Amino acid sequence: MIKNLLKGKKGVILGALDANSIAWKVAEKAHQQGATFVLSNAPIALRKGDIFTLGKQTNSEVISADVTQVDDIENLFQESRNILGGNIDFLLHSIGMSPNVRKGLRYTDLDYNYMMKTMDVSAISLHKLLQVAYKMDVINEWGSVIALSYIAAQRTFSTYSDMAQAKAMLESICRSFGYHYGKKKKVRVNTISQSPTITTAGTGVGGFKSFYAYAQCMSPLGNASSEDCADYCIMMFSDLTQKVTMQNLFHDGGYSTMGISETLIQSCFTCQGECFDDIIERERVMGKKKE
Ligand SMILES: NC(=O)c1ccc[n+]([C@@H]2O[C@H](COP(=O)([O-])OP(=O)(O)OC[C@H]3O[C@@H](n4cnc5c(N)ncnc54)[C@H](O)[C@@H]3O)[C@@H](O)[C@H]2O)c1
Repeated sequence: MIKNLLKGKKGVILGALDANSIAWKVAEKAHQQGATFVLSNAPIALRKGDIFTLGKQTNSEVISADVTQVDDIENLFQESRNILGGNIDFLLHSIGMSPNVRKGLRYTDLDYNYMMKTMDVSAISLHKLLQVAYKMDVINEWGSVIALSYIAAQRTFSTYSDMAQAKAMLESICRSFGYHYGKKKKVRVNTISQSPTITTAGTGVGGFKSFYAYAQCMSPLGNASSEDCADYCIMMFSDLTQKVTMQNLFHDGGYSTMGISETLIQSCFTCQGECFDDIIERERVMGKKKE
């Protein structure tokens, strides 16, 4: 195994709720690779989640911050500086939440106050983190910022609801802020577009099992797990990726480039397409008429 990829690096990891969280795996691997960091999550997550267990496991302090609150973010960075004894080299935004999804509202019947909350928590929070970090000059030269995204930013997934717009905005903020932070301090900003992963946020999306199974059948390498995702984050925080910035990096076993796979053709459609026979026949008849 590669060792000490992050030796001497300091960071802030946001979004570890429980042992399934992607941020949890990133924290474990960052610790294994020699980094020191501060963990952060929303006040309610500190009360209800297991983050303090992770704190003990990785010798990390936990700081409460609601990422929609600029004051909380300022405090988070100030406290992190004090605890870590200086500026940081990496920042993980592993945060998402949609009240519309939580309440099971259909996309054609969204609550707009909820939608604003979705945008604030899941996308604008990345801008807030970056803007506060930029103004406080809290990230070292060649630092690396990663936010987690999903392919619903580009394609339609019927039950992903307003999170699709949030992810599109998140990726756009990464590109726009990536320019400014790159010019100012050579800080890189990227999003990782991850496979469906079994976590609290993931399984909260309607029909998650089908998302997962479909992507598994489509991807030549299979779905990327949260452990795989953590490995990718570690590489992106390391010095081996210094010229990668303003990218949306698909981490999905090849899913995003697929049309249809052998697995889907052979096993997933148990009817082998028979239930579409009438449509196929109709098309054939219409085709003959055109001839
Ligand atoms: N699980 C998947 O299938 C999947 C796929 C692609 C991308 N992602 C993304 O990965 C990221 C991490 O999600 P996860 O799957 O590990 O689920 P998770 O539920 O473990 O993590 C989501 C985190 O967001 C935090 N959060 C919510 N509101 C907050 C607020 N106001 N302030 C601070 N933190 C807040 C939660 O407390 C939680 O820790 C999210 O951006 C998610 O959209 C997940």
